[in-house]
Parts: sequence; C-alpha cells; structure tokens
Amino acid sequence: MKTEIDFLTKPTLKGEKVILRPFATEDWEKMIPLLTDPEVKRLTGSVANDEEANAPISSEEAEHIKQWYQSRNQQTDRLDLAIIERANGKLVGEVVFNDFEETTRNVNFRILIGASGRGKGLGTDATALFLQYGFEVLGLHKVELEVYSFNPRAEKVYRKNGFVLEGIKREDFLYNDEYIDTKIFGLLKKEYEGR
Ligand SMILES: CC(C)(COP(=O)(O)OP(=O)(O)OC[C@H]1O[C@@H](n2cnc3c(N)ncnc32)[C@H](O)[C@@H]1OP(=O)(O)O)[C@@H](O)C(=O)NCCC(=O)NCCS
Repeated sequence: MKTEIDFLTKPTLKGEKVILRPFATEDWEKMIPLLTDPEVKRLTGSVANDEEANAPISSEEAEHIKQWYQSRNQQTDRLDLAIIERANGKLVGEVVFNDFEETTRNVNFRILIGASGRGKGLGTDATALFLQYGFEVLGLHKVELEVYSFNPRAEKVYRKNGFVLEGIKREDFLYNDEYIDTKIFGLLKKEYEGR
C-alpha cells in the first residue's frame, strides 16, 4: 500500500551552488523582479507577446503575488521552494512540484530563475537537488514537465538531469503571433535510480 505524500513539510535542501528553502514572509517582494523579468514571462508562457512581457506590474498583480508567496508553506498538495544562490545568499528563483496525481504518484515540475542567477549552473544544481528530494524522500513515481521549443537552455538542463523527451505538442502556443511547439519531458523513478 502506498503511503500518503507529505507536501506539508517544506524542507531546506543544500546543494553545491544553491540552497532550496521554504518561502519566508518577506520573500514576495524579492520575487516580483524575478516574475516580471520579460524573459521569465516569455519562457514560462505567462504572456503572449513582447508587449505583455515588457508591461509594468499592476497593483492587483503585486497583491496577488504577495498572497501567493505568503501562502506557499500551508499547501498540502504541492511543494514550492525558493532558490538561494549560495555564493551571495540571494533569492534567485523557485522550484515547484504541482499537479500531483495520487494514484500514479506522478507530478509536474516547474523552475524559474531571474536574470542575475541564470547561466551559472544554479538551475542544473537546483533541479538535481529537487529531484533527489522528490524521488528519495517524497517517493514520487515520475516527474514530468513541459518546455517550449524556443527554450533550448531549459531543455539542456532537463536533459542533463536525465529527463527523456516523451512527445511534442505541435504548434501548441502562440507568441508574437508565431506558433511554438511544446515539448513534454518525463523522468521515471527507475531512470533516476539507474543514472
Ligand atoms: C531554465 C533555467 C532554470 C536554467 O537555469 P540556469 O541556471 O540558467 O542553467 P544552467 O546554468 O544550470 O545550465 C544551462 C545550460 O544550458 C546551456 N545553454 C545555455 N544557452 C543555451 C542555448 N541557447 N542552447 C543550448 N544550450 C544552452 C548552458 O551551456 C548550460 O549547459 P552546460 O552546463 O552543459 O554548459 C533558467 O535559465 C530560467 O529559469 N530561465 C527563465 C525561465 C525558464 O526558462 N524556466 C523554465 C521554463 S520550462
């Protein structure tokens, strides 16, 4: 019989380049520049064109972000952790397990890192650390994710961490009126263990 998954425990995980830790009350303000970074908005599918990507944040959106990050530690069906760059102690992004399926023990993975943290190996380290926790502590069966075809950097990080391409949703997303494919990647527990 499978045990219940414990998403309520919000761990602190130490890697070589990053620390993953629960969100603190004041972190929402630090998340705003990361979430409003035009590249993050484009690559995470939060916007449909450059105009929206470069638009300033409204007070309603800022309030929503505040509520969102101040409620992450109470969530029982998902895990959201802040990514801290070890070299300087700065909050640079987040990792998330969401859309958990109880019967299969499969989950979706998301990651974002703001401009100052990108391209230094932090995403690779954060992904490895989070996967380790997901498979070895939470007992996940499979971690899945989606990435747009215009994001080869993220794809590289996922492949480096063992994710396998499962399929492509062709012309799945419109950005600046151009169709973009969505790639689906997955990593099974047995593949993780066999790496
Ligand atoms: C995707 C993301 C998490 C990766 O984290 P990161 O810290 O920037 O990535 P890393 O530095 O660990 O690794 C990047 C790898 O991609 C490679 N890379 C960079 N640009 C690339 C490109 N255009 N094509 C192919 N590979 C590329 C780098 O060389 C590096 O590989 P290497 O270590 O083997 O040399 C981060 O860039 C990010 O959050 N970006 C914005 C939001 C986003 O894309 N989220 C994911 C949505 S699916």
